[in-house]
Amino acid sequence: MTEQSPALDNLLTESRTFPPSEAFAAKANATADSYAEANEDREAFWARQAERLHWDTKWSQVLDWSDAPFAKWFVGGKLNVAYNCVDRHVEAGHGDQVAIHWVGEPGDTRDITYAELQREVSRAANGLISLGVTARDRVAIQLQMIPEAIIAMLACARIGAMHSVVFGGFSPSALRQRVDDAQAKIVITSDGQYRRGKAAPMKANVDEALAGAESVEKVLVVRRTGEDDVPWNNGRDLWWHELVEAQSDQHTPEAFDSEHPLYILYTSGTTGKPKGILHTSGGYLTQAAYTHHAVFDHKPGEDVYWCTADIGWVTGHSYIVYGPLANRVTQVVYEGTPNTPHEGRHWEIIQTYKVSLYYTAPTLIRTFMKWGADIPAKYDLSSLRVLGSVGEPINPEAWMWYREHIGGNRCPIVDTWWQTETGSIMISPLPGVTHTKPGSAQRPLPGISAKVVDDAGNEVGKGGGGYLVLDKPWPGMLRGIWGDDERYRETYWSRFSEQGYYFAGDGAKYDADGDVWLLGRVDDVMNVSGHRISTTEVESALVSHPTVAEAAVVGATDPTTGQGIVAFVILRGDVAEDQARGDAAIQELRNHVSKEIGPIAKPRQIMVVPELPKTRSGKIMRRLLRDVAENREIGDVTTLADSSVMDLISSGLKSGS
Ligand code: WTA
Repeated sequence: MTEQSPALDNLLTESRTFPPSEAFAAKANATADSYAEANEDREAFWARQAERLHWDTKWSQVLDWSDAPFAKWFVGGKLNVAYNCVDRHVEAGHGDQVAIHWVGEPGDTRDITYAELQREVSRAANGLISLGVTARDRVAIQLQMIPEAIIAMLACARIGAMHSVVFGGFSPSALRQRVDDAQAKIVITSDGQYRRGKAAPMKANVDEALAGAESVEKVLVVRRTGEDDVPWNNGRDLWWHELVEAQSDQHTPEAFDSEHPLYILYTSGTTGKPKGILHTSGGYLTQAAYTHHAVFDHKPGEDVYWCTADIGWVTGHSYIVYGPLANRVTQVVYEGTPNTPHEGRHWEIIQTYKVSLYYTAPTLIRTFMKWGADIPAKYDLSSLRVLGSVGEPINPEAWMWYREHIGGNRCPIVDTWWQTETGSIMISPLPGVTHTKPGSAQRPLPGISAKVVDDAGNEVGKGGGGYLVLDKPWPGMLRGIWGDDERYRETYWSRFSEQGYYFAGDGAKYDADGDVWLLGRVDDVMNVSGHRISTTEVESALVSHPTVAEAAVVGATDPTTGQGIVAFVILRGDVAEDQARGDAAIQELRNHVSKEIGPIAKPRQIMVVPELPKTRSGKIMRRLLRDVAENREIGDVTTLADSSVMDLISSGLKSGS
């Protein structure tokens, strides 16, 4: 049935559990009763959570699912998302509370209070308005982790414009694809960024991306590295500071419909074209705020929170910007890499700011493990209360290491399963309630329903494995794929259309207690360092190189990144084999993919092969290639059109490399 990575096999034999301490449980935001309360009346539960927000007009209906799979939540309600994340905290007397402790990679810092954030967001909103940006216009943002990134997102939300944040590591052509698909009117970027102690240009890449992009009217450039020779396109380009500083710091937010679009965020699918996942306002903010409150046990004014994600990914959207700020967080935002200038940078920051809630990814935890437990041991991490994990299944070893060496065997770990599409956390332990298990995300949150089903859509029993589905609509769910309703239905709702289930694309299993264990993707999407990359996208990039005739890509188990990209390529007939096989040629191909998509998609390994294993219907059997990539015995080859292909590949690799 579902294919799962052998590295995750150990998940299935794990049986340790860790109950919450009484002291933690006594003060926890979450209670065990919430599950039953939510089960009794799901809509009433979410309506209570929506009361966390300020609504200018109250909704008349909690959920309208009559046009499924297009949901409407809090129908008729009106609110302003940015007002909820900023202004209302100032009005409630918390203007002096620090919203953001920003830490630049070179060591510069900036504390921004809610009152300052309100002024900055208002100025930026006025600046966008002065450029003619109106509600529903798209603004593309490619920025590193600097305060302006958050300010720009909130300024868009404030005026009802949609942001489309593009990860800073994406190539010019990946940025262009997203700008064109969204028809972005404005692009916001910076002159350059600090990365591993060096300033690297950004504006030049954006210029390359935007050459001839017809929808783009203005490019706003934040000055960060202060290079002298920033390429400039007069008439199109404007300095962010020049535009924004000239604006009034007063702006009256307008209330928008609960279903007003908030943002588009692109994610990889099983085809080469990224999907623009569409999120709207009221339901999204409700679930982001509730989950941040319950899953991280966040106490406003007491906790210091730090989510190490980048705003280029959904985790940055929901758990740096929207959920936390709606909950009046004080949070750390760090610009740089975890080993600049030294491998204790995160622990030093936690010690300095007394971070109490820390949310990161398994790939980083495994990297920290590699660097050694003696590094965090040098710092005072006693402020920590809750540790979170997101992005891929966390192996029990990494979970235990995290618990012991970062959490001092004291902090509950929340392994949070969710997706760009779900908008917010869906399956996770609740700190103070759940007896946690290393490697399991455990149970759907109160108000959320998920099941593990077999091929026919029937729920499997305890101990059974299959596909993860979401069987009831939830407030933060995607409202579609930008400009492609058909693809939305096809991708998520056709696999179990009879039952009306949302198909998440993940394999999962119930243990004997009925807890859920996630087992990785079951489709052609790889998960590299917690980033979703489609095999097809990398294959298209490879065949766009003049020496490559055909390519097949698999995600092979990798001890640090979860999966690593391994590509098999067939060279064009007219290319001299020995020449294109050489190290330099392989390096050139790897760089080509990096240039086409971005460094995150650079294959770990490329192997030149004479043939690819295909079924009679022409589908590449990636399972067999994974066996090769992971140095395993080759599995069942009976469905291959030509069963000798695998021998050809294996012997070719032995003699050729
Ligand atoms: C995987 C990131 C196991 C999963 C929020 C999902 C996880 C994809 C977990 C979504 C987890 C995320 N345990 N797998 N705790 N969290 N995933 O859209 O395969 O970047 O489908 O959203 O990451 O990735 P995305």
